[in-house]
Amino acid sequence: MRFIIEDTNEHAGQWTARYIVGKILAHQAKTDKPFVLGLPTGSTPLSTYKELIELYKAGKVSFKNVVTFNMDEYVNLPEEHPESYHSFMWNNFFNHVDINPENVNILNGNAADPQAECAEYEERIRKAGGIDLFLGGVGENGHLAFNEPYTSLQSRTHVQTLTHDTLVVNSRFFDNDVNKVPKQAMSVGIATVLEAKEVVILALGPKKAKAVQNCVEGTVNHVWPITSLQTHPAGIMVCDDEAASEIKVSTYRYFKEIEKDSLL
Ligand code: GLP
Repeated sequence: MRFIIEDTNEHAGQWTARYIVGKILAHQAKTDKPFVLGLPTGSTPLSTYKELIELYKAGKVSFKNVVTFNMDEYVNLPEEHPESYHSFMWNNFFNHVDINPENVNILNGNAADPQAECAEYEERIRKAGGIDLFLGGVGENGHLAFNEPYTSLQSRTHVQTLTHDTLVVNSRFFDNDVNKVPKQAMSVGIATVLEAKEVVILALGPKKAKAVQNCVEGTVNHVWPITSLQTHPAGIMVCDDEAASEIKVSTYRYFKEIEKDSLL
């Protein structure tokens, strides 16, 4: 696993955006097939989306031939609700780049048959040729997408009941009222994420320090689903200094040293 430690949130976002753009350009130089990009929501990817938009505006990348699959969506929250992940993605990213709306895939949290929607999402990913790069965040409790602690590391796209911790953390988007947070979400599974050719996880701020410590220095386990990143052959954890604050000094120095001269 690569472990990138940048000094600030902004720099971590810039590193991640440039890494993604580099992958899109390398892919486009080789093939006409679309680049398939997995995407997260939350506060964490905002600096990355901002930089991706800047790079697009500067003419460094186009998203015309990029297909996206989002990680998760709340169940039974209207799509047009300001806190739905549909709204989040259009407001914070898609509306600002040249992506073709037909290439955007987000789980339908209002589907009449949620199980069928999850199965069909897996099928859509398969038909798109699999995900080239899955960008993700991590919950304070170590969740990956909405795969809460104790989710099987072999899970596929499914309906997930959220833990009380997550409801409390996410209540900041719902007037700080835990009762307004949807109790369930649809989420790609851990195996769905790990099947991507590359997985890049972003963790920013001190609240993510325990999750980062478990992911980088702990053992693979389902109590901290993020530790499953260790099993991916091309996994990258990108964090800022605050999120690296629980890492041992020797681990910190080792990864800083080996990444010192690498470009991206
Ligand atoms: C949310 C999302 C996750 C996200 C995580 C962290 O609830 N479902 O996909 O990675 O929790 O969110 P944030 O980036 O806001 O800290």
